[in-house]
This record gives sequence, structure tokens and C-alpha cells, in this order.
Amino acid sequence: MVCNIREIDCQEAKVWAAPLAIVGAKLWSATFTGLAYYTPEIVKGYTDLAFTDAVLESELSDPKNRFLAVESNGEVVGYAKLEMRKSEPCIQTKNPMYLSRFYLDRSHHGTGLAKKLLDAVNDTATSLGFLSLWLSVWELNVPAVKFYTKHGFAKVGEWEYPFTSQGKQYVDIDWLMTRPIK
Ligand SMILES: CC(C)(COP(=O)(O)OP(=O)(O)OC[C@H]1O[C@@H](n2cnc3c(N)ncnc32)[C@H](O)[C@@H]1OP(=O)(O)O)[C@@H](O)C(=O)NCCC(=O)NCCS
Repeated sequence: MVCNIREIDCQEAKVWAAPLAIVGAKLWSATFTGLAYYTPEIVKGYTDLAFTDAVLESELSDPKNRFLAVESNGEVVGYAKLEMRKSEPCIQTKNPMYLSRFYLDRSHHGTGLAKKLLDAVNDTATSLGFLSLWLSVWELNVPAVKFYTKHGFAKVGEWEYPFTSQGKQYVDIDWLMTRPIK
């Protein structure tokens, strides 16, 4: 299997919006449906809002964001999104960059590809002059918490993570984790 990880140029936003929207909706649905109160309807209500071509195109065009796409045999099977944004007070690591999405299709879990994507994220943040990474993860997302912990992230706090589905507002408590650049 030939896998390739590449940074997407913001000029390519139009081309990449649809494939990333499809992968994001698929991954979100596969990961969260059935966990706690996440019914198929609540999940669909959220993914229909958050993973449209228009939303992705806008995120891809924003110069404060960086996207890394993972391709396998020419098909998009995951992506990571980094954001230059203000961090939270509990994030005490130096000059942190926010890793806001980290998605890999289930067919590639347990293969080491997630570690390669994290290495690429690390390289991108380094090239921009950042010295650490921080992220937010739902504590019930056990594989993700395990993955981040295994790769040196430590829990340093929590925050409320609000999202909207079918006109209703929900709030999850997410862990905030951070690690220095490696
Ligand atoms: C987070 C993610 C990229 C990790 O990729 P991965 O290839 O599964 O990573 P790894 O196999 O290296 O590590 C995952 C760990 O979770 C474990 N795991 C997998 N499924 C599990 C489950 N249902 N329950 C408990 N542990 C589980 C694995 O055994 C592994 O632990 P180990 O190293 O101690 O054996 C991947 O799970 C993913 O894309 N998830 C969906 C999107 C997501 O949740 N992203 C994070 C949002 S913050």
C-alpha cells in the first residue's frame, strides 16, 4: 500500500474541500455514534453542519490554518488540521500550536500511519517556529487518548467543547493535552 502525507496549499482549497469534508464526516460518524448520548441523528445533525464543502473550503483558505492530507493509493484516508490560535491558560508549554483535527480512516488504524501523520504535524509546526503542540480530546474517545498519551501528550486541563446539532446546543467536557515539539 502506498501512503503519502502532504501539506495542502491554501490555493488548492477548492480542490480539497469535498474530499476532506467526506472523510471528516465519515470519521466523526464512525468514531462517535453510539458513545454516550451520540445517537445517529445527533451525529448526522452535527456532521451535516461541520463537514460541508463550503465550511472546509473556508477553513482551507484561512491563512491561520494548515492542513495535512493522508492519501492511500490515490484516495484521501485522513487529515490533520493545525491552527494558529490563542491557547488556554493551562497550556504552559512554550509557543504552542493547536492541533484541532486528527483523523485517520479505520482501515488504517493500528498500522503506524497515525504516528507518521503526527510526525508530519510536528514537522509542519516546527517549520512555522512553534515549540509545542496542544489539543482537545473527549475523554470517552479512548483510542485517541491512548494514542496521544503514547506519543508524549500529557493532560493539563479540561474545557467545555460546545457543538450544535439539529438546532440544539450540546457541551462535552474535553481533556486538554500538550507536548513539546520532538
Ligand atoms: C486517533 C487515531 C488517529 C489513532 O490511530 P491508531 O492507528 O488507532 O493509533 P494506534 O494504533 O497507534 O493507537 C491507538 C490505541 O488505542 C487502542 N484502541 C483502539 N481501539 C480501541 C478501543 N475501542 N478501546 C480501547 N482501546 C482501543 C489501540 O490498541 C492502541 O493502544 P496500544 O498502542 O496500547 O495498543 C485514530 O484512532 C483515529 O483516527 N480515530 C478517529 C478520529 C479521532 O478520534 N481523532 C482524534 C480526535 S481528538
